[in-house]
Amino acid sequence: MHPKTPSESLTEMTELVLPQHTNAIGTAFGGVIMSWIDICSSIAAKRHCGRVSVTARVDALEFKAPIKVGDVVCLTARINAAFTSSMEIGVRVEREDAGTGKRALCADARTTFVNLGDDGKPSPVPPLLSETEEDQRLATEAAERRRKRRSAQS
Ligand SMILES: CC(C)(COP(=O)(O)OP(=O)(O)OC[C@H]1O[C@@H](n2cnc3c(N)ncnc32)[C@H](O)[C@@H]1OP(=O)(O)O)[C@@H](O)C(=O)NCCC(=O)NCCS
Repeated sequence: MHPKTPSESLTEMTELVLPQHTNAIGTAFGGVIMSWIDICSSIAAKRHCGRVSVTARVDALEFKAPIKVGDVVCLTARINAAFTSSMEIGVRVEREDAGTGKRALCADARTTFVNLGDDGKPSPVPPLLSETEEDQRLATEAAERRRKRRSAQS
């Protein structure tokens, strides 16, 4: 299978926080942000595999700063590692200051998506080709997390 780099599937998504996305105190409802994280990840997974993948896992979801109604929110999803039929995807959620264009990290998460074949069963994903030291570091860390999780489960 033809290897792909993380930059080939890098996905950026921009959302405007409207009143229907907020809770009773006017900040973004966590479930809405989680749904945007899922969508952004699924686009990155689809770009990497060329077909639909499903969410198997969400890890390390942290809401670090509030997002308010009227905020512009930028999500970035990148493939950290590709295994056999699964991929770990890192997602950043940032609030963009409309005046300066500066971004501040509000939430992040790691998701695992599994590529499915026509039979609905897990199907191999293209290998991930690291282009930079950062790509290599993220892939190594993801592999280590997966190794630890698997050994804890066995
Ligand atoms: C994800 C799913 C397809 C895995 O199917 P399965 O038959 O259990 O697959 P396997 O045990 O053979 O594992 C397949 C791969 O998925 C990975 N995987 C399965 N469950 C996982 C989990 N909870 N966390 C992380 N990885 C997982 C395995 O590590 C394996 O990875 P690899 O092929 O890269 O080594 C299946 O559990 C499923 O359909 N879950 C529901 C998905 C869903 O509905 N999501 C929400 C809507 S999109």
